[in-house]
This record gives sequence, structure tokens and C-alpha cells, in this order.
Amino acid sequence: MKAADRVASFGTTVFAEFSRLALEHGAVNLGQGFPDFDGPDEIKAAAQNAIAAGVNQYAVSQGAVALRQALSAHSKRFYDQTIDPMREVAVQSGCTEAIFDTVMAFVGPGDEVVVFEPYYDSYVASVAMAGGVCRYVRLRAPDATHDRYWFDERELAAAFSDRTKLVFVNTPHNPTGKVFTRDELTLIGALCTQHDAILVSDEVYEHLVFAPAVHVRPATLPGLGDRTITLSSGGKSFSFTGWKIGWAIGPEPLISAVQKAHQWVTFATASPFQAAIAEALRLPDAYFQRFAADYRARRDKLRIALEGAGFAVHPCDGTYFLMADISGAGKGDDGAFCRWLTTEIKVAAIPPSSFYSQEHKADAHRLARFAFCKSDAVLDEAARRLATISTRK
Ligand SMILES: Cc1ncc(COP(=O)(O)O)c(C=O)c1O
Repeated sequence: MKAADRVASFGTTVFAEFSRLALEHGAVNLGQGFPDFDGPDEIKAAAQNAIAAGVNQYAVSQGAVALRQALSAHSKRFYDQTIDPMREVAVQSGCTEAIFDTVMAFVGPGDEVVVFEPYYDSYVASVAMAGGVCRYVRLRAPDATHDRYWFDERELAAAFSDRTKLVFVNTPHNPTGKVFTRDELTLIGALCTQHDAILVSDEVYEHLVFAPAVHVRPATLPGLGDRTITLSSGGKSFSFTGWKIGWAIGPEPLISAVQKAHQWVTFATASPFQAAIAEALRLPDAYFQRFAADYRARRDKLRIALEGAGFAVHPCDGTYFLMADISGAGKGDDGAFCRWLTTEIKVAAIPPSSFYSQEHKADAHRLARFAFCKSDAVLDEAARRLATISTRK
């Protein structure tokens, strides 16, 4: 009855713990990274119409052709990237499955994967299930000489070896809000080339970028197209995280390996939602501009509330997360602070130490992650509650 080693060390996630705590204490939940509002009505109608029209049986394993064609058009429109919808795209159940399938496709026991931390936790879990080993590179908080999160080039170079199979880059980056620059991506790409590694670019927040920051797709940089797999999904860009439509884009030899894993993981993905996301990807530019502008306003509202409560907030150029320095609050480390904030102030945030390896968890002890993918009324209520912190001092 004993669970296999590959899952035995997994606990419940920090999100489950804090959602339960938030519910118990009537806290406004800024922990969970999903919107409390839905995406466009016409895209909901597209899913309903697909169901009514009988799009209800297994989709083609590699993904509905209409969705793959829409992804090809979307890549051309936003990144001037040409991809063959028949050979260079595969569809999965969310980016989470795309991550798992990619790891299954390329990582064997003892193989190494370079991961920037803080990281999206499914990278590390997937590598563990494959028997691989993560080599961590720290994203360091802004300081006197860096106005954004940054990494040490020597530390990055030292993380590579002749066993490196993959490098995960997440841009825009959850939870720091960092958007990797062209120069940074070029440097990472050069190391991938030198060590014959695959660059896996997780771009689920690709449309959540705040000017003047610009999202650069690593696959479009010189020399990187042949060794980059771009992962993304419709969850964040269209506010339908529950639909779980994700994809992998890349050169045929890489995509066909990912597809081989997919056919034995979930085989195929929800047909009516694929039809609807195909329409979403073809929404006019105005949708994407408005989407980013609305999120910018939410970001600024939450930043002002947090600063008003006495926290230093790190710059956020993308995603829907803010990292705040909570060291001045005197409530202990990130876990203790977030428990206090949830139970006493009744605003839930996530302690970021769960996004760091054991050896670097201390980096997170002065930080808390706040999600601003919430309606104005919820953010206003959170701001009202946060304002009580300064009057308590
Ligand atoms: C960086 C990152 N990658 C992937 C995902 C998962 O995406 P999906 O919901 O499409 O599985 C998330 C969700 O929070 C994320 O933050």
C-alpha cells in the first residue's frame, strides 16, 4: 500500500493550505493565481456552440486542426514566427501537461534540468517524477545596482553540465513579475547551444506584459528556433483557467517527442474548449491591448495599497503577481507572515518559499506573493483591510 518513491515526498500544495485558511477566516484571497471573473462572453458562447454542434468526442490526439491553425496565425501575428500547424504544434491539457510531457520526452534518470528559482512548482515535480535532477539558478531581488530581478551569469554557467537536457525559462515570470530581456535570453540561449540543451520557454503570461517592458519569445532569437520548445495556454490570456487548453510549439523532432508522451498521458484534450480557444486566439488586437491595460490598473491599485500599508513592492513588468518585502512587519518569515495576514488582517497571500529549493528557501523569508487577478471590488476590500495594518502599528 506504500506510495511509489516518485510521489512519496509530495505534500499538499501551499495553495490548498492557504485557500483553506482563507475560507476558515473569511479572508480576501489574493493567494490563488486565477481570476475571479470570466473571459469574453463570445468565447464562452463558442464553447457552448461547439457542444451544441456535437463537438463532443475525442479530439485528434495532437490537437484540433482549427486550434493548431489558430496558434500558427497567432504566432505570426504577435511574434512574426512561422510555424507549421501540422508538424510544429501539439495541444495538451493545460501548460501543466505540456511541462510534464516535455520532461517525460527528454529527461531520464540522472539527467539534469536548469531551473530558475523561484520556480513554478510543476517543473521540479515533473523532473522528480522522471528521476532527473534540477540545477537551480537564483533570480535575485532588486538591489542598489539592479532595478529588476536579475541573475548572476557565472552562477548560470556553472549550473550547466554535459548532463543538461533542458533549461526552463518562464517569461513573464511567476512569481517575481520579471520579463526576461533579449540580452538575458540570448545569454541563456548561448549556454543551451554550447551544452546542446533544449530551452523550454513557459510563456503562459505572454499577454500580461506592461509597457515599456516587451515580451521576447526566445524561439525567435537568432539560432534558437531549432532548440526551443515554447509552452503556453489559454488559461491566463483569456481568463478561462479551468478549461485547461495548453500547447507546445517547436521544431518537428522536438514536438513529435512531446506528442509521443502526450498520447500516453491524456491522449487528447477537451474538444469544445479547443474550438473556443481557437476563436479566442483570433480575437482582435484591441482585446489584447485592453486586457493588459486592465491588468495594469489592477496592479497599480494593489501596489498602492501595499505601499500604503508600509511594504516595499518589487517592480512588476508582467504576470498578475506582486512580490512585497514584508521584512519590516516583524511577523517572522514568509510562512508566519502570510498566516498572520490571513488570520488577523483577513487578506490571504502566498509564502514564496514553496517556490525555492530547500537550500535557498531563506531567500524567500522576507517576501510575500500577492495576486491581482481579482475584480475591483475584491481589490478595494483587500486595500481597505491592508490599510488597517498601518493603524495597528
Ligand atoms: C508559470 C506557469 N506555468 C504554467 C502554469 C499552468 O498553466 P495551465 O493552467 O495552463 O496548466 C501556471 C499557472 O499558474 C504558471 O504560473
